[in-house]
Amino acid sequence: MKLARLQPSQYDELAKLLHASLDVWHRTRLNVARFGSEWEPFRLTIDVYEALDPGCCVVATDESGVLMGSAFFHPRETHVGVGVVTVHPSAFGRGVGRALMEEVIRIAESKPLRLVSSAMNLDSFSLYTRLGFVPQMMLQSMTMQVPVEGLPGATKRMRAATMADITAIADFEFRQNGIRKEKDYRFFIENQSGCWRLSVIERDDGTLAGFLVASAFPTDNLLGQGVAEDEATMLELMKGTLDQHFRGKTVAFILPSMCATLVKQAYAWGARNRETNLLSVLGEAPRMHGVTLPTFLPESG
Ligand SMILES: CC(C)(COP(=O)(O)OP(=O)(O)OC[C@H]1O[C@@H](n2cnc3c(N)ncnc32)[C@H](O)[C@@H]1OP(=O)(O)O)[C@@H](O)C(=O)NCCC(=O)NCCS
Repeated sequence: MKLARLQPSQYDELAKLLHASLDVWHRTRLNVARFGSEWEPFRLTIDVYEALDPGCCVVATDESGVLMGSAFFHPRETHVGVGVVTVHPSAFGRGVGRALMEEVIRIAESKPLRLVSSAMNLDSFSLYTRLGFVPQMMLQSMTMQVPVEGLPGATKRMRAATMADITAIADFEFRQNGIRKEKDYRFFIENQSGCWRLSVIERDDGTLAGFLVASAFPTDNLLGQGVAEDEATMLELMKGTLDQHFRGKTVAFILPSMCATLVKQAYAWGARNRETNLLSVLGEAPRMHGVTLPTFLPESG
C-alpha cells in the first residue's frame, strides 16, 4: 500500500470509491440503501473540500495505483478536523483505515484531531477509539420536510453575516468551545459557489449570541455548522434559517442529543432520526459550553 495526496486526475475515481464504500457498508451492515446508485453526486464532497482545503486529502493506492481509501483533513488554528474517511469495500478490515488515520495524525503533528462519526458503525468507532479518540458528545442526524408555508413565529432578530462578522464569529466559537475555524467562516461568507448561507443573532449590545451556517447544494440541504450561547438562540437560528431558505424542501441537520429543547422541537416539526453520531477528539478537548450543531460537509467536529 502507498500513501500520497489526492491528485485532480483521481477525483472521479475517488467519487466512485466514496459511493461504493458508503453504499456497500450501509447495505451490508445496516441493511439501509441510503446512498443511491449514482457516484456522480459524491463529486460534491471532493469539490467542496478541494475548494476549502486544497491538497488536504491522503489517499492509499495498491501496487497498480488503484485507490484503496482516502482521508480528508482540515487544518485549523486550534486543531485538525478529519473526515470523510473511506475505504474501498474490497479492502475493508485490512488496515487501510488505520494507515490513513496514522498519516493524518502524523500530519497534524501535536495538534488535537476532531471528527464526527456514526455511532452505528462499529468499524469506524473501533478504528478511531483504538487510535485514542475519545467521544465527547452524543448527536443525532435528522431530516425534516419544511412546510411550503414556512414555520410560524420565525425570528426577526436574525440577519445575514457579512465579511465584517468573520473575526467576531471565529472569536465567539473560541470563547464558547475553545476551537477556532476562521477559514471556514470566510469561505462561507465569500460564498463563491452561491450555496452557503450564514446567519447571526446579536444581543442588545450588538455582541454575538449565535451563528448558524446552512448549505443549499443541488443534492442536499444542510443546517450546520453553528454555535449559540443557549438553546433558545439556536432554536431561533434554526427556525429562521429553515423558514427563510428552505420552504418546501427536505433539510438534514445534526443535533446534540442532550439539547432536549431542540430535539423536542425537531420532533414537533416532524423530523425523523437517520443516524446517531459521536463527536470525538484525539488530544486536548476543551470543554464545549456553546450549543453546537456540527455538520459533515464541511466536516466540523
Ligand atoms: C470505517 C472504515 C473506514 C474502517 O476502515 P478499515 O480499513 O476497514 O479499518 P482497519 O482495518 O484499518 O482498522 C479497523 C480497526 O478496528 C479494529 N476493529 C474492528 N472491529 C472491531 C471491534 N468490533 N472491536 C474492536 N476493534 C475492532 C480492527 O482490529 C482495527 O484495529 P487495529 O488496526 O488496531 O487492529 C471502513 O470500514 C469504511 O470505509 N466504512 C465505510 C465508510 C465509513 O463508514 N466511513 C467512516 C465514516 S465516519
